[in-house]
Amino acid sequence: MRTTLSTSQITGTFLDFYRDRGHEILGDSTLIPPQGDPVLFTSAGMHPLTPYLEGRPHPLGRRLTGVQRCLRTTDLDEVGDDTHLTVFQMLGSWSLGDYPGDQSLRWGYELLRDGFGVPPSRLHVTVHDGDPGSLETWQRLGVPVEILGDDDNWWSNGPTGPCGPDSEIFIWTGDGVPSGTPSTTPSTDDRWVEVWNHVMMRYRRHPDGTLTSLEQPSVDTGMGLERMAMVLQGHSSVFDTDVFEPWTRTVSSLWTPSRLLYDHLRSSVVVIGDGVHPSNTGRGYVLRRLIRRILTTLWRDDPSRTLLDLPTDPIASTVDHYGLPIDPLYVHDVLVYEERRFGALLRRGRPLIERLLLRGPLTDDDYHYLHDTHGIPRDLVEEVVTAQPRQ
Ligand code: ALA
Repeated sequence: MRTTLSTSQITGTFLDFYRDRGHEILGDSTLIPPQGDPVLFTSAGMHPLTPYLEGRPHPLGRRLTGVQRCLRTTDLDEVGDDTHLTVFQMLGSWSLGDYPGDQSLRWGYELLRDGFGVPPSRLHVTVHDGDPGSLETWQRLGVPVEILGDDDNWWSNGPTGPCGPDSEIFIWTGDGVPSGTPSTTPSTDDRWVEVWNHVMMRYRRHPDGTLTSLEQPSVDTGMGLERMAMVLQGHSSVFDTDVFEPWTRTVSSLWTPSRLLYDHLRSSVVVIGDGVHPSNTGRGYVLRRLIRRILTTLWRDDPSRTLLDLPTDPIASTVDHYGLPIDPLYVHDVLVYEERRFGALLRRGRPLIERLLLRGPLTDDDYHYLHDTHGIPRDLVEEVVTAQPRQ
């Protein structure tokens, strides 16, 4: 499959489709969750809507759509494969106690087929084994269905709160039409790429683990924008899509191609743009880790590399794409300042760690000493050993 739709056009097509069906478009999205929320970063489109999915009336009504930037630190170790990113955008639609799940699935099918031009022969879905309604809807639409259990098709954003069975939509990215005996399915063939999840929010999970039915069942859907762009633009990785072009071009010409650098640089820009400063706790520490992983990657091959060489163009392009209220030059300053700090920490830390290593493998006491006395956290010790500071 290959269309000429840019990432912005994909967003526009999605929002227009839902606006034409009575959905209000949600305004600004930020990575910072609403006050009182225990998590560090917004990790799904529904996240800021949690109280409304639990029944509180939303000021914009019962049909909503929008694009939400998200950050998932759980995916950090998967960054570098074809489809996982630290910061990504999620297109979403919500029925807050309004239309039911089967309507959401039918609209989803219509948008994919007519709005994005996905041939129905390239679609496959999965449903939860306790959700006969979704199964029937897909069977009527003629889309092949794989039935799975809680591990694959149950969605919740945390240990408590609204949750329910979900139905995931996959697009075939292999050559030709999917075929084979036994027939290929999303759980057996990773050429099926998941692009969209429709969650039937029917339950609330309580702190003791029990479930009760929500008085007002809702529907929450989320489509990974960069992934959708990858599939529609006919690429084999999210890093080949238009939104990454400024990063892949710049990083490849300055240093060497690296998916980690593309991902972490772009993610750091968005996190800084949402008002986070590098620090040793909370959100600031996630940002600090991202920047330090960038530096470790750069210095592993050549200790003379520096973020001072990074031009502001790709930063400006990300700032513009996300509508961040920040000057790209300021973002550049934050990155360079953090580079200086990390360089100094490495110069100070390496001799200390090397001295401890002379006595054998590091013990818990060594880690406590390095952390409490010298400010070098445990997970950085390895990086301190492997990275070379800029001379
Ligand atoms: N909240 C659902 C997800 O993130 C749509 O997959």
